[in-house]
Amino acid sequence: MRATFGTEGWGFESLRAYHFLESRRGSNWSLFVVASAIVLVRCLPPVPTEAPPRQTATPPGSIAFVPRQAWNRTQGAGLGRPGPNGRCSRERGAARILPHNGERFREGTGMFETRITKLFNIKYPIICGGMMWLGRAELVAAVANAGGLGFITASTFPTLGELRAEIRKARDLTDKPIGLNINLFPAARPQPIEEWVRIAVEEKVEVVESSGRSPEKIVEPLHEGGVKLMHKVAGARFARTAERLGCDAVAVVGFECGGHPGLDTVTTLVMVPLAVDAVKIPVVAAGGFADGRGLVAALALGADAVLMGTRFMATKECRGHAGWKQHLVEAGEGDTNYVMRTLGNPNRVAKNPLTDKVLAMEARGTTIEELLPLIGGRSNVAFDDGNVEEGFAPLGQSVGMIHDVPTVKELIDRMVEDAEAARDRIARAIPEKVAR
Ligand SMILES: Cc1cc2nc3c(=O)[nH]c(=O)nc-3n(C[C@H](O)[C@H](O)[C@H](O)COP(=O)(O)O)c2cc1C
Repeated sequence: MRATFGTEGWGFESLRAYHFLESRRGSNWSLFVVASAIVLVRCLPPVPTEAPPRQTATPPGSIAFVPRQAWNRTQGAGLGRPGPNGRCSRERGAARILPHNGERFREGTGMFETRITKLFNIKYPIICGGMMWLGRAELVAAVANAGGLGFITASTFPTLGELRAEIRKARDLTDKPIGLNINLFPAARPQPIEEWVRIAVEEKVEVVESSGRSPEKIVEPLHEGGVKLMHKVAGARFARTAERLGCDAVAVVGFECGGHPGLDTVTTLVMVPLAVDAVKIPVVAAGGFADGRGLVAALALGADAVLMGTRFMATKECRGHAGWKQHLVEAGEGDTNYVMRTLGNPNRVAKNPLTDKVLAMEARGTTIEELLPLIGGRSNVAFDDGNVEEGFAPLGQSVGMIHDVPTVKELIDRMVEDAEAARDRIARAIPEKVAR
C-alpha cells in the first residue's frame, strides 16, 4: 500500500487545488494539471516509516490519586471534591490528571495544566484545528479569547496579502496566541509554502499546524523564527516521524474525524495511546471529540490536549449558512460518509445523495478524473448556501453530539465544566488505593 504522511492525502489536496483553479479560471486545463500531479505523486516512493518502540514506563498523562488533604491544598480551602455523602473524606482520593512529565503537583495549578497549555501558552488544552474556508479571524480569535488555540487556514486565501490581512485582523480581535494552518500538499500549481512560513514568522504567529506531507522543510525556518510547530498525522507511526523531524507536538486524528482520516481506518481510542507510547513530544488527540467528557478521556489516554473541527463548525463565530449549522444540530453520528478510500485519498464528509453516489461509483471502480467534475469546489455549496444535499463538506462522526450552536466561549466553558464533572466521576469510581 502506498504510504502517506499525515492526514491530508495528496489526492484531496490536489482536489483542493483543482477547486481553487476551477473557481479562478474555469477551464479543463486545471483538470489536466491536477490529474498529472496526481499521477506523478502516485509514482513517488512511499515515505519510509519506522516501527515505534514500545515504552514500558508509566504512560504520560496518567491519572494519579492524591490524598484529599493535598488535593484541597492545591485547589484552595473548601474546594475539595466532596464524597458521595457530600463530605470530603481524608480517606478518599481525588483524581488528578498529571502532566506527561510526571510532575505531581505545583501549588495553585489547576487541572488544565498540560504540556500543551505550557508549550502554547494557553489556558485550556482545547484546540480548533485548521478548516479550509472556515479557519478565519473571527473563529480563531474567539477560540483564543476563550482560552484555547485556533488556526487560520492559509490555503483558504487566494493571495498572500489576504492571508496577512486575516492574521492581522485576528490580532486586532485578540491578544492571545493564534495559529496558522499550513497544508503541505503536492498541488497542481506550486503552493507558496515558503511564503506562508515567512508570513507566520513575520506576523509572529505563535504556532503552525501542518498537515498533508512531511514537514521536514518547514521545521527549521519556523523554529529560527520562534514559531512552534504541531504536525497533524493519521497514524501513530507517522507521529514518530514528526518527532524525529523536530516537531514540537503532534496531533493524531482517528477514523471518526471530519476531513481526512487515514487509510488505516484506526479509531481515535486506539490511535491516541499508540501515539503516546510512540513519542516523547506532546500528543494532541483529534477525531470524534465534542465535549468535556472527551477531553478528560483524551487526557486519560495520555494526550495533552484535544483538537476538534466538526464541533467548532457549529458555533456562532464560525462562518457558515444557517441551514448548514441547522444540519449540524439535526444530523446523527451516522450521517457521514467515508469516501475516496479506493483512490488512496479518504475523506469523511456529510452523507447526502452526492456522497452516496461517490460511494456507489467507488464500488463499481471509479477514477479521480470521473469524480472531480462531480465534487470539485462543492464544500462551499454547503457552507455558503446551506445546500446540504449537494455539498461535499468535511464532517466528523462527532456531529451526532452536536445539539446547539453556542458561542465559542459558551462551548469551551461548558467543556471545562463537563470535564470537572467527569473528573469527579472518575474519582468516585476509582478509590485512592484499590483493595486487592
Ligand atoms: C470543514 C472542515 C475542513 C477542514 N479543513 C482542514 C484543512 O484545511 N487542513 C487541515 O489540516 N485539517 C482540516 N480539517 C481537519 C480538522 O482540522 C481536524 O483535524 C478534524 O476536524 C478533527 O476531527 P473532528 O472533525 O472529529 O473534530 C478540516 C475539518 C473540517 C470539519
